[in-house]
Amino acid sequence: MASDLTGSVVVVTGAAGDQGRPTAAAFAAAGATVVAAGRDADRLAEVVALDPQHIVPSVVDLSDDGATQDWARALLAEHGRIDGLMHLVGGWRGGKGIVDSDLADWDVLHASLIRTLQHATRALHDPILRSPHGRIAIISSTGLDTPRATNAAYLTAKAGAEMWLRAVADSYKESQAAATIGRIMALVTPQMQAAKPEGYKKFTPVADIADWLVALYDRPADEVNGLIETMTR
Ligand SMILES: NC(=O)c1ccc[n+]([C@@H]2O[C@H](COP(=O)([O-])OP(=O)(O)OC[C@H]3O[C@@H](n4cnc5c(N)ncnc54)[C@H](OP(=O)(O)O)[C@@H]3O)[C@@H](O)[C@H]2O)c1
Repeated sequence: MASDLTGSVVVVTGAAGDQGRPTAAAFAAAGATVVAAGRDADRLAEVVALDPQHIVPSVVDLSDDGATQDWARALLAEHGRIDGLMHLVGGWRGGKGIVDSDLADWDVLHASLIRTLQHATRALHDPILRSPHGRIAIISSTGLDTPRATNAAYLTAKAGAEMWLRAVADSYKESQAAATIGRIMALVTPQMQAAKPEGYKKFTPVADIADWLVALYDRPADEVNGLIETMTR
């Protein structure tokens, strides 16, 4: 069943990224007002162009706690409600193993994958709790099942992000709100697939991930709160 999110306000962070764009478009198609958040106004303008009637741009650096709090207050003042946070800020560093990897990579990943999530969920926790169907979601990695030395910092950051979101889920228990984790190996865009039609067999299409996120609104809060679900093709 296709969700009807008319009247709801859903925040998509990382909206200018590979996953953010189709996600913003999918929530817009479901009728929601979509707040497309990112740091670069020009990149966000491209996202708004996907559905100008439903998508509004919102420039914020989510690595700055104070700026994120101000941003959330302004969003609530403007829209009157917030019904969801699809937190799609990404970042990847790795490839060199335990000894040769640079711990500066960890600092970058901690800032992009953990601190932005902490800031955004703290700032939007209460409005989403007040929504009749508040949802928060992140996309994590199946690499957490089989950690590789070459991916240590990235997977440590993803593990931290998952644990933070599971704690948010505890905060939402017995409410109408839910915090949910989707795991993939990697995502594939239509452009990537077109360039290599026989490739990316184990990657998850961004459209499928977007549909999965929208469908969280069709599932009961107590079914999806705290859920970690692996997406396959
Ligand atoms: N790509 C994969 O194969 C894969 C695999 C597993 C999980 N995931 C997860 O899926 C999600 C989406 O992935 P993706 O590849 O689309 O992500 P991405 O392109 O790496 O990041 C999405 C966007 O986040 C924004 N961003 C970065 N730092 C920010 C900050 N401090 N404040 C505000 N915005 C910030 C950037 O836009 P601006 O520069 O315009 O701000 C960027 O375009 C991520 O959470 C990622 O970890 C991805």
